[in-house]
Amino acid sequence: MSLKAIRFLPFGLLLYCAFFLSCESIQKNEENEKVYTTWSNYLGDSGRSHYSTLSQITKENVKDLKVAWSYKAKDWGQMQMNPLVVDSMLFGVTAALRVVAINAETGSEIWQFGDSVQVWHSTSRGLSYWEKNNDKRIFCTRGPHLFALNALTGKPISSFGNNGKIDLRSGMSASAKDKFVISNTPGTIYKDLIVMPLRVSEDVGAPPGIIMAFNVITGDVEWVFKTIPDIGEKGSETWQFKSDIEREMTGAANNWAGMAVDEKTGIIYVPTGSAAPDFYGGIRKGSNLYSNSLLALNAQTGEYIWHFQMTHHDLWDRDPPAPPNLLIVERDGKKIPAVAQVTKQGFVYLFDRATGEPLFDVEELPMPTSTLDGEQAWPTQPFPVKPKPFARQSTEITENDISPFAENKDSLLEIFKKSDTRINAPPALNPVFLLPGYDGAAEWGGTAADPNDGIIYVNSNEMAWILQMKENDSIAPDRPFGERTYFKYCVTCHQENREGLTASGFPSLLGLKDRLKKEDVSTIIAQGKGMMTGFPQIKKDEKNALLKFLFNEADKQEVATTEYPPTSHALPYKHAGYNKFLDSNGLPAISPPWGTLHAIDLNSGEYIWSVPFGNTPELNEQGINTGTENYGGAVVTENGLLFIGATRDGFFRVFDKHNGTILWEYKLPAAAFATPAMYEINGKQYIAIACGGEKLGTEKGNQIIAFSLNAN
Ligand code: HEC
Repeated sequence: MSLKAIRFLPFGLLLYCAFFLSCESIQKNEENEKVYTTWSNYLGDSGRSHYSTLSQITKENVKDLKVAWSYKAKDWGQMQMNPLVVDSMLFGVTAALRVVAINAETGSEIWQFGDSVQVWHSTSRGLSYWEKNNDKRIFCTRGPHLFALNALTGKPISSFGNNGKIDLRSGMSASAKDKFVISNTPGTIYKDLIVMPLRVSEDVGAPPGIIMAFNVITGDVEWVFKTIPDIGEKGSETWQFKSDIEREMTGAANNWAGMAVDEKTGIIYVPTGSAAPDFYGGIRKGSNLYSNSLLALNAQTGEYIWHFQMTHHDLWDRDPPAPPNLLIVERDGKKIPAVAQVTKQGFVYLFDRATGEPLFDVEELPMPTSTLDGEQAWPTQPFPVKPKPFARQSTEITENDISPFAENKDSLLEIFKKSDTRINAPPALNPVFLLPGYDGAAEWGGTAADPNDGIIYVNSNEMAWILQMKENDSIAPDRPFGERTYFKYCVTCHQENREGLTASGFPSLLGLKDRLKKEDVSTIIAQGKGMMTGFPQIKKDEKNALLKFLFNEADKQEVATTEYPPTSHALPYKHAGYNKFLDSNGLPAISPPWGTLHAIDLNSGEYIWSVPFGNTPELNEQGINTGTENYGGAVVTENGLLFIGATRDGFFRVFDKHNGTILWEYKLPAAAFATPAMYEINGKQYIAIACGGEKLGTEKGNQIIAFSLNAN
């Protein structure tokens, strides 16, 4: 209350009473006080609810939705971004990481940032917005840099960092200087801080993941939380490094999926990914805190409050893939502020937001032991007793579950029969049947939640992958330097024969010279592309030799001139490649559903409904609803609608949130692997979604499309 109000009694007294009354109602039902009609925050709000109370679009009239406007970007390809809307401006990111401001009512462009800079091959899930009085800022990233832009003009704010940008590695140790560090999920704003997610390598050579808060005005590092504790710090005993080299070879445990913050309590919730290298942990024995954990930190200072580790000593790339949801659940008539975290395994963990106490019991169950030399899988793993997983688990698949549509059933059965289907079967020389796979169950689209009634809506993949390790027999020293470099950095994904695993999304690098210029390949190596992380640490002479090899100009005489830091090549085993379990037509080799959508009541832990999600056109013609692989999340409205794109078939759909029936669907110009944004201008309700396709072998697109009831 202001001093002025006290002076002007009795008006002040009135205000004073109103203040206390409202405080009381906030305490009673804090979440209800939020408005949920705007979209100035990633995924709608800082609790990442994907939720709106706008109500012009209803179950009755949703069939009348029309395209209100569409915006065509200059560049084409995957757009994972969730737009922001502030006042009448919509902010988005294109496939080549241009940031655009668009009139949210008409779709006309207001400004664009990044046109004069080089094209980026990375993906972006969106932006962050901060304002104080007339100072309005948009935060975006390109490569290792975080930019602060004037929201009204798109110009970098020169007083922020170095002429409008900072290096995300500025809060990291010096050894991170040459490493691949980017951020493709928006930072979380808390007061005058922005807390940044980071994407790093998942292999030997990754820097240790740290959580960093930067000052939104100056760009200065305000605090740092180390997810791999330093020697002597709490948690460091969970990393049994035998040498400094092992410590150096280990990294990651970074948050890449984004965070949620409770603005009332000032607690930030940070899910962390697995430690690198992903699949061989013999150099990082122990449970590996704080990898694969949900961390609760003081958002102002970065101090530790509580954590829960969801996979101990991860050997399967079980990163929690989405930010958590802050919501209220009811227990014994009491309303409890809770935080829910979905996982790639299809589990939902639910914790008391303040204490980290699980709100459904979690059992530690004994797990299979590892067979690889030097590896020690953790003896137990946690399983929430409720809700049950929202995707089939490997143990549920039998020989009868090979896809009925597969034409090569016998060869699929052969692979299946020799694969280890036990849950958390450690990586081995024999194939492991990984279901849910590397890309979930849940993925980065995350979970929509009604923050008040405790119900979440989650889309899920049911794609099995074959996980297999190989002995890392070293390549003969007389092979050309470039070929040896390729073996050190590239074989896992692009394979020894350079043919890639195209059906799984890992392209062949044969015949590169017919389709790409050396400079382009050089940029891709440095920056990465889509799912591929970059390798800025590859030195100039290594890179030249590598390029020569890729362009079939390798020179046998060429030799390495210096010592290079170890890569996964120094480990006794290597990952044989990201291999989806597909049939000869490229369809999933297990029986459908291949993608699903669920409503789960977290008050009871029970499912309200589950439906297959998306169609395979050739099978849909025969009346079979298979569901498809899907990426991107939903938006749920208070009045009963669930809006979601995400499927490979390129539809944008509205479901009835109460029963999962489809109320409306629209075929987009390209698949929308993105979460929509809902907003209102001049009394009209809009929902906007980016559709850039490209992922999962779909056509490329370049549009952001907004829908409303009456088209412009
Ligand atoms: C972790 C897996 C992984 C590793 C390791 C990896 N790549 Fe890739 N690479 C990919 C994926 C996935 C793509 C496809 C990206 C896209 O288009 O979205 C790709 C694409 C490429 C492309 C573009 C191909 C084209 O036709 O457009 C080039 C070139 C390339 N990689 C080179 C390399 C080189 C050289 C290395 C080693 C220094 C390497 N990659 C290491 C996964 C990987």
